[in-house]
Order: sequence, then C-alpha cells, then structure tokens
Amino acid sequence: MNVVGSINMDVVVEVERAPAPGETVLGSDYRLHPGGKGANQAVAAARLGAPVAMIGCLGHDAYGDALYQTLRREQIALEHVRRVDTPSGAAFITVERGGQNRIVVAPGANAQLGPEQLPADLEAGGWLLLQLEVPRETVTAAARRVRAAGGRVVLNAAPAAPLPAVLAEAVDVLVVNETEAGALLGLPPPAHAEEALQVAARLRTPRSTVIVTLGAGGSVWSGPTGQGSVAALPVEVIDTTACGDAYVGALAWALSSGQPLTRAVELANANGALAATREGAQPSLPTFQELWRFASF
Ligand code: RIB
Repeated sequence: MNVVGSINMDVVVEVERAPAPGETVLGSDYRLHPGGKGANQAVAAARLGAPVAMIGCLGHDAYGDALYQTLRREQIALEHVRRVDTPSGAAFITVERGGQNRIVVAPGANAQLGPEQLPADLEAGGWLLLQLEVPRETVTAAARRVRAAGGRVVLNAAPAAPLPAVLAEAVDVLVVNETEAGALLGLPPPAHAEEALQVAARLRTPRSTVIVTLGAGGSVWSGPTGQGSVAALPVEVIDTTACGDAYVGALAWALSSGQPLTRAVELANANGALAATREGAQPSLPTFQELWRFASF
C-alpha cells in the first residue's frame, strides 16, 4: 500500500480546558510525539501487518531526522520520503481532560510534496491511501493515476476542504468525520446516525463508498452494495488524537487484505476505539496482537 501524505512532529500540551479567544491558560509540560495524518495512517496500517511505502517530505532538521527514524523502525519503505530545505511539519495540540483535542498544523515540508515526487511505480502498489494535509494537486494526481491503472483509492478528507469533482471521481472509499462530512456539503455536522447516513449517500459517487465516523456515535457507511452502521465500542477515552487515523489505517489494511467492507469497518472501529485509550498520535496506534486481544475477533 502506498501512502501519500504528511509527516509531522506533534507538540502536545494537556490542559484542564482549552483557552477562550484572548485567554491564556497554563497546561502540562509539553511532549513531542511523531504524528501527521499521512504518517499516522501509514503506521496504523503497518502495525497491523500491511506492507506500506510512504511518499512525503521532511525538513533537514532534528524533527526530520527523528521522524524518519521512527518510520524506519515501523518497517515502512522510505525511498520516496524527500528531505527539503523547509522546516519539517509540526502540529500544536492541546488535549483537554476527557480527551478532546484541538490541533493547529504548520505544514512546513509537507507543502513541498509536488506531483513530480510521485514514484513512477505508484500504480504498482494496488492500494493508495490519501489525506488532505499535503497539496491538493498532488493528492488528485496520485488518485487519478492509481484509479486509471485499476488500483483502489482510499481518501480521508481531513482536514476538511472542498473536494474537486475530478478527485471525488477517482476515490473508491471516502472517510470523513461528522464535521468534515458537514463541511463538504456546506451544512452543520449531522446530529445523529440517521442524518449521517443521508449525508454519506449524498456525498458518494456511483462507484464509491462513503464512511462517516461519529466518535461516540460509531460510524455509518453508504456504498454501491448498500448501507450500514456500527456502534462505538465503550472505552475510557484518554486522548482522541489520531483515533481517526487509527480507524482509516485499519480500514485500508483490512480492505487491502481482502476483508469485506462490513468487516473492515468493524476492525477500523475497534482500532480507533483502542487508540483513544492511549496518549499521543503514533504511540497510541495498536499492533495486530493488541487489536486482536481488544476486540476478540
Ligand atoms: O490526526 C491527528 C494528526 O493531525 C496529528 O498527529 C497532527 O500531526 C495532525 O496532522
């Protein structure tokens, strides 16, 4: 599986509550965790057993060195991770008591990932996993190439941004949370699962499946073969950072391993729930053994 996406260093502070506009609050000491939606999803899939290659950009800096080594330890192929003369991407994250997070991303090197960096053998990967933290033209070019060659494209449209029709038409599986789903249609987030199903049906193309994740409300999907939902698993939420990435990485792993959609969604749902019980982005992502024990599949 190829992942074209962002690689960030996350600077994380725990706070009792997030500051209001113009307010200063004191938090915990900060911690550094490897993150970035692209890298998180690559690591999530790799920890579950998928062969993964990452296509992305890092700066020539200490964060870049640390993030490169982290991905290498996960056995992710890094031939197409380019080092550039721009600071590595960083994300500034507050985590409130109860696990809710707020994230500001400084894209840095991620913004240098142009279509010309896509490998000549991108299509050979079969499955392509994308998010929206790198330039849209690169995401679109990658999706179109893989789709034209008969491969499968999974897009996590996060952070929320308008999807050009040419990109939407190249996608097999679109995954969005409730906020992103609403934003794509210019509407408020769906209030409950029934409304989310209607949104998913509106967002999909004739050949694509759309999955809307709803946090404590589980997730719903609508696709060419029908629609369905899965309830959230009850867990003690510590930190929701990268729960969505755990979900999407597991979904891509399961689908690329030949699992049917309903089963892939169940596995993704469990992987996201388990990630919520642990701190940080990549430190929270489960291994195959952990997922197996947790969900007793
Ligand atoms: O989805 C969580 C991720 O969003 C964080 O790791 C942060 O880097 C941002 O990309």
